[in-house]
Amino acid sequence: MLTEALKERIAADLDRARRRTQVLTEAVDEQDLVAQHSPLMSPLVWDLAHVGNQEELWLLRDVGGREPILPPAVDQLYDAFQHPRADRPSLPLLDPVESRRYVHDVRGRVLDLLETVPLSGRPLLENGFAFGMIVQHEQQHDETMLATHQLRRGEPVLTAPLPPPASPAAGGLPADVLVPAGAFTMGTSTDAWALDNERPAHQVELPAYRIDTFPVSNGDYLGFIEAGGYDDDRWWTPAGWAHRCQAGVFAPLFWSRQGRDWVRRRFGHLEAVPLGEPVVHVSWYEADAYARWAGKRLPTEAEWEKAARFDPASGRSRRFPWGDEEPSAEVANLGQRHLRPAPLGAYPEGASPLGVQQLVGDVWEWTSSEFRGYPGFRAWPYREYSEVFFGTDYKMLRGGSFATDVAACRGTFRNWDYPIRRQIFAGFRCASDVDSGQG
Ligand SMILES: [Fe+2]
Repeated sequence: MLTEALKERIAADLDRARRRTQVLTEAVDEQDLVAQHSPLMSPLVWDLAHVGNQEELWLLRDVGGREPILPPAVDQLYDAFQHPRADRPSLPLLDPVESRRYVHDVRGRVLDLLETVPLSGRPLLENGFAFGMIVQHEQQHDETMLATHQLRRGEPVLTAPLPPPASPAAGGLPADVLVPAGAFTMGTSTDAWALDNERPAHQVELPAYRIDTFPVSNGDYLGFIEAGGYDDDRWWTPAGWAHRCQAGVFAPLFWSRQGRDWVRRRFGHLEAVPLGEPVVHVSWYEADAYARWAGKRLPTEAEWEKAARFDPASGRSRRFPWGDEEPSAEVANLGQRHLRPAPLGAYPEGASPLGVQQLVGDVWEWTSSEFRGYPGFRAWPYREYSEVFFGTDYKMLRGGSFATDVAACRGTFRNWDYPIRRQIFAGFRCASDVDSGQG
């Protein structure tokens, strides 16, 4: 991309992220901004100033060589590694007025810097990577702030139009799709803003498997509940069962019973559970138990990515299921355009070459994989982005949700969380083995 066009794109992406941050932080009053709505989450005002602080650290101080705007002690208040979320409300944080002034000040200086900085000559500047990283960082916090809104009790404050309905043809599609055996290219070495854990591109050989055409729906999941799935330890891993008992989990987070019916709370609205939408707010343990009950299993990360990106006609991997083009409103439910997942079958134009639908957007999808670096992984630009999380503690999520922005979503994008977590916008789809000889 030519430098001028790249700079325009960066400015537009920064602006889109900021407008979203403003929507999320201006929709509530000051009391709600400084309150902690769940011990799992930061006060919204912490996210706000943290976004500005990361922007200042990476773009103004590292790239631009500028002096700190605020006293140096402020940096450590917004260092996520120094203060767990539960402790953040007790810190001497900037108040809402100070936080807004700070992020506005940082952004003004960043836009000035963008005009003059060369987008080459240093690895951090190549293709505007440092700016892309900051765009993705703000959008990731916007998704986190939207999760905070979902946890907040009180009157609804956010609005958005309904997602498109299911296409009439969706009902006639097979429940799952055969992915033929063979190698495919996983990860990327060329996507300019891809993060370290998505790199490098490498070949992965997989046996044939089947994967669901759609994410598991609320209606499917209700089948598991009504069959007593939460009361039968056969379906759960020992750790999953222990957690289910200890935490008293009986349905997806935000679901409750009203007489014989199930309702859910969604951004302050209490509504009947929509059977045709992907299930959301389930933990990895619940997803894993459902899959076993259904006679299936969760896909591995590699299986998810091959189903999403592999094009058997060309043998290459696409950036997205539908091709290499950036997501449009016609192919995926992303970017908080709608405040809910879309019904199964709403995005036939977003299907992968193998016919798998809604892989990108709607709900993050739990996979069976733990967090590892790809062969040849190199931590960049800092170990704390990914490498310190490698190991057995986390499960991988793929594909992005309705709350994920297009800038923070690719066929290669990897997300991770603890297997007990349910406040994130996560659902899943199932996979199964194919008997040898088939496929
Ligand atoms: Fe952060």
